[in-house]
Amino acid sequence: MKVTVVGAGAVGASCAEYIAIKNFASEVVILDIKEGFAEGKAMDLMQTASLNNFDTKIVGTTNDYVKTSNSDICVITSGIPRKPGMTREELIGINAGIVKDVSSKLLEHSPNTILIVVSNPMDTMTYLVHKSTGIPKNRIIGMGGALDSARFKYRLAEALNAPISDVDGMVIGGHSDKGMVPLISKATRNSIKVTNFLSDERLDKVREDTKVGGATLTKLLGTSAWYAPGAAVSSLVHSIACDHKKIFPCSALLDGEYGLSDLCIGVPVVLGKNGIEEIIILELEPADLNHLSESAEGVKKTNSLLNA
Ligand code: 2OP
Repeated sequence: MKVTVVGAGAVGASCAEYIAIKNFASEVVILDIKEGFAEGKAMDLMQTASLNNFDTKIVGTTNDYVKTSNSDICVITSGIPRKPGMTREELIGINAGIVKDVSSKLLEHSPNTILIVVSNPMDTMTYLVHKSTGIPKNRIIGMGGALDSARFKYRLAEALNAPISDVDGMVIGGHSDKGMVPLISKATRNSIKVTNFLSDERLDKVREDTKVGGATLTKLLGTSAWYAPGAAVSSLVHSIACDHKKIFPCSALLDGEYGLSDLCIGVPVVLGKNGIEEIIILELEPADLNHLSESAEGVKKTNSLLNA
């Protein structure tokens, strides 16, 4: 199992590390355009192999896509991260060109690969990859909801004063500060609805803290987060690589599901060896369905900037 990660920045390197530590891949190639940067990150990570007990071979390359040949899965993290106060959508001008170029070069050397898009604005970048490559839609996956759901569970556990392993919850919709839809009504603490434990006011705070989870960290860190994004991507890669058929909210191209078409937005999907193997149609509360539709309008508005 060969995985390529484009972008040796914090998110890409974290993703590569978590993939290696899970030890299901034979090789992880990290590619970056900055001279020597990916090679250095790969070497540093390989020097953790004996300490973290993995046999995965991590290789770095400076912009040589031949080294990425025949990758089963390719992760696109390249592009600029946002700075404090920026929205993800403000990155479109620079990141669109990068993502289009990178996806084309990856497919040139791995024509059957599955592409996972992380670069922001992620839903629009995922849509761009569909439009620019034309490969089957099951092989293009946007990573946002898995990260947002992890932040949702963190906030729920905080509010419940419960272990995160007891908490389950899902965020669908756009991966944007205003467009996320945390599914409060479906969240549980060990199969018991969280609405049994928390007031509406406290749940509203959980919802809002979740939606700005990325911006909160960008303000604290001075740049976008990387540990949780890297871990979220590695979880998607793991389910695909091992054909686990786990369900994650991912940005998928919709063709009528949830009454939405011609956009990529976070919905629950089954991830297996073929990438997106099924889009799950949840029965949503009317308010959540409305929020999803509003979120879709926001994503489509950002998509329209691609042609601007
Ligand atoms: C985040 O939410 C980088 O979009 C990513 O942290």
